[in-house]
Amino acid sequence: MGSRVPLPLAVLISGRGSNMAAIARACASGEIPARIAVVVADSTAAAGIELARSLGLRTAVVPAAAHAGRAPFEDALEAALAPHGAELIVLAGFMRILSAAFVARHRGRALNIHPSLLPKHKGLHTHRRVLEAGETLHGASVHYVTEELDGGPVVLQGRVRVQPGDDEAALSARVQRCEHIIYPRVIGWIAAGRLVWREERPWLDGVPLPAPIVEDFSAAS
Ligand code: GRF
Repeated sequence: MGSRVPLPLAVLISGRGSNMAAIARACASGEIPARIAVVVADSTAAAGIELARSLGLRTAVVPAAAHAGRAPFEDALEAALAPHGAELIVLAGFMRILSAAFVARHRGRALNIHPSLLPKHKGLHTHRRVLEAGETLHGASVHYVTEELDGGPVVLQGRVRVQPGDDEAALSARVQRCEHIIYPRVIGWIAAGRLVWREERPWLDGVPLPAPIVEDFSAAS
């Protein structure tokens, strides 16, 4: 990992693609030694695909609805990825659960970002669940992808404070601002060879990561 500079990324999206755009900006500005080799969406309805095109990125759409089940969809996904030679798969709002076989093929070479302070609030509707529970801290986590949904080792978390009067939209916007900082940062560590997957765990700067790194964004929000 990190052998090719800039590190070629495949960014997989289902939605707006704001994380994809943040990663694209970090690549284009030279902030991280990576480049987006391809952006792949699982639906033509993903607004992020137009955004990617407008940024001059290569794109592919593999419509999940056009495939009868997960295995044929993932075969098509692999076929769409293959010509681009990506060394890291970056899930950025990709709303498909990947099979154990797919995850195993890309083990240690796939990241996800999840809008919660994992292991809290795996799955959907995290902002709503945080508000309903009356919690005061929330955030986002960048983690390696494993077979367990939202369960792989977390590398970096961005923590934000829930403000009085927050609704889901306000909280989501605050979390996204920190996502756009922490996701490029972790990708940059991998691209620079600082973060590697070895012996089934993340290592940063030559030592196994004992726990997620937590960055506090509450002052900024
Ligand atoms: C992000 O909040 C991310 O945490 C979650 O899906 C959302 C994607 O947003 N996995 P965007 O498409 O990058 O704007």
